[in-house]
Amino acid sequence: MTASVDASDLVSRQPSDGGCSPRHVAIIMDGNGRWAAARGLPRTEGHRRGVDVMRRIVRRSIESGVDYLTLFSFSSENWSRPATEVSFLLTLLRRFVRTDLASLHKNGVRVRVIGEREGLAPDILSLLEEAERLTADNTLLTLVVAFNYGSRQEILSAARRLARDVAEGRVSVDEIDCDEMSRRLYTSDIPDPDLIIRTSGEQRLSNFLLWQAAYSEFYFEPALWPDYDEAAFDRALADYAKRERRFGRVTTQAVP
Ligand code: IPE
Ligand code: IPE
Ligand code: MG
Repeated sequence: MTASVDASDLVSRQPSDGGCSPRHVAIIMDGNGRWAAARGLPRTEGHRRGVDVMRRIVRRSIESGVDYLTLFSFSSENWSRPATEVSFLLTLLRRFVRTDLASLHKNGVRVRVIGEREGLAPDILSLLEEAERLTADNTLLTLVVAFNYGSRQEILSAARRLARDVAEGRVSVDEIDCDEMSRRLYTSDIPDPDLIIRTSGEQRLSNFLLWQAAYSEFYFEPALWPDYDEAAFDRALADYAKRERRFGRVTTQAVP
């Protein structure tokens, strides 16, 4: 919030390619620790470098015409890491919001945070809420920050709310469908991801967007997150553009 923004900070959007771009890209930013270890550095150094890459990919997403970019920044399970690493990651988040919010806002980025808010430190909670409030009316890119996010927990909490709504007569059992469920997830106002990228060569979801990824395309990138760059992101988008999404249909049928 303290950063000043001049015109050179503004990112411009390239003309649309006529529908081959993913509308929503979600990234599992993985490999910070291994990047640092390979250089004999503390894991925290990898996380620090990772924030710079995040900035670059946000810019690239705007330039590429992506409407939603979701970044997995901290999972519900990441609390089990050593306390020093967890506290460094929280500090990085605070610092990121404080230094980058003005520039994100100026660039028309709307920030949305998904994840469990209960139990978060009050200062983190208010920073996240401030970021969402300040940028709520922006329309160029929605940056979805998955923080303290776990998909099973998200689905359980939606199921609990649904059960409560049934018990209290607001919804009947027969009315329960995918929409009723989706509406109760953190992502209720966010379309499902078209493309999920995971860096560092790991090929798993690690409790990320399990419900929402039903028909997502996957792209596994060998580079560790601190080495990831615009060219690698462009390659993932170009690969996506060649894919055929069938949603259970056959090739000759129109896709919704
Ligand atoms: C991703 O990098 C960042 C977070 C999970 C917060 P890692 O810290 O998981 O790095 P590796 O996978 O151990 O290399
Ligand atoms: C997933 O990465 C979480 C984030 C990228 C924030 P992890 O590094 O925590 O996942 P696992 O433990 O290797 O599956
Ligand atoms: Mg990891």
